[in-house]
Amino acid sequence: MRSAHRLKQVRNRIGSAMKKLLITGGNRLHGEVTVSGAKNAALPIIASALLADGCSVYSNVPDLRDIATISRLLAEFGADVQSGGNRMVTVDTSRLRSYNAPYELVKTMRASILVLGPLLARMGRATVSLPGGCAIGPRPVDLHLKALTAMGAHIALDRGYIVAECRRLKGAKIYFDIATVTGTENVMMAAALAEGTTVLENAAREPEVEELASVLSAMGAHIDGAGSDVITIEGVKSLRPVEHAVMPDRIEAGTYMMAAGITRGDILLRNCHPFHCHAVLEKLKEIGLEVTEAASSVRVCWKHPLSGTDVRTLPYPGFPTDLQAQIMALLCLAEGTSIISETIFEDRFMHVGELRRMGASIRLDGSAAVVTGVPALSAAPVMATDLRASASLVLAALVAEGTTEISRIYHLERGYENVEDKLKSLGADIRTVSA
Ligand code: EPZ
Repeated sequence: MRSAHRLKQVRNRIGSAMKKLLITGGNRLHGEVTVSGAKNAALPIIASALLADGCSVYSNVPDLRDIATISRLLAEFGADVQSGGNRMVTVDTSRLRSYNAPYELVKTMRASILVLGPLLARMGRATVSLPGGCAIGPRPVDLHLKALTAMGAHIALDRGYIVAECRRLKGAKIYFDIATVTGTENVMMAAALAEGTTVLENAAREPEVEELASVLSAMGAHIDGAGSDVITIEGVKSLRPVEHAVMPDRIEAGTYMMAAGITRGDILLRNCHPFHCHAVLEKLKEIGLEVTEAASSVRVCWKHPLSGTDVRTLPYPGFPTDLQAQIMALLCLAEGTSIISETIFEDRFMHVGELRRMGASIRLDGSAAVVTGVPALSAAPVMATDLRASASLVLAALVAEGTTEISRIYHLERGYENVEDKLKSLGADIRTVSA
């Protein structure tokens, strides 16, 4: 059974690796699109199921490769994970039997590190493969480990695995040198079951952190200050399962906003929280797009040629690094020169070379990209290198003259639900082919 399942996984992976996306540019996108549940909120929320004994039910979970990976990971520990209709995922953790997160899964998704805190807090042990470097930089997890050590965990590295043990974690005062998103989430989950009070200083303020805190609170945790840079967690002895609907994906929303801009289109995004997208919406207005915000929707409409601007990625509420590649594609066609500074990840410019192959004028200068607007882009065979880089190539292809062929689209499938159907419904000429 198990080997048949593995074989199917390998076949799926090979099939996906062979697929290519063909996009013929030039169509103005218009219409409505519904934003899916947020990948980066769903991942820690699903991991948090490990903290309680019983069955948690999550809705509005996007149907994505990364969600399948975290589900497989939890199944490795003995959790019964079922995906139902209507974007529902149930996780029953009443029979956990293992605490080993294998390299084979962790290497495909760094966010697997999110199981470390919950496993340690619930089972007193965790063996999690140390994530390696990735296409956007070395991305260490030292701050996760430092914080858990301060809470009393014994952590060693053995043959590429983090081996962590503790009796019951103890509350501690923790200062993060860098406001790390998954680090804050990991430690917040661990602290929810620790003895005493944990205070996280310089905590990440991302909406996904706040959402996880509200899920943990619904499970019986005592958390104060999530959404600010100081989070206080009063540990409790046990947590209960929960039902929760995942928030909309602000990065997917931002990507479709850029699609409206780059194709001179008009897109209404439903199931979108404009207050999570403030920095992005302000930039889009600044370069000349018309933006109309309502309680749970945003409309982005092109009215006249766009002008260049400067963008600096920052932790929330600043401009998100996860939209840096996409706004770069947009600014490639804006009038004048734009400077895009990447301050979160040191190596997140892999898309630059591919955009240049499509005729973009971009010069890299350390952690900044100097983009000079060009009148048009042209189709070329290009290769996706990571999730958001893929999205920027899709955006460029939507407007390029000719048919662009994007390979390695499995990166895109990690984070964009039904991207082909959604873009088609907006009028794009897009199709997937086997290589
Ligand atoms: C989260 O990654 C997101 N992933 C990323 O989404 C996102 O790009 C990133 O936050 C920044 O917003 C998930 O939420 C699952 P960090 P994370 O720890 O938590 C350094 C996407 O495309 N750092 O906040 O891994 C790190 O190298 C992605 O969906 C340390 O030095 O990012 C980086 O420079 C990919 N030591 C900075 O902090 C540590 O122990 C911020 O990274 C941890 C982080």
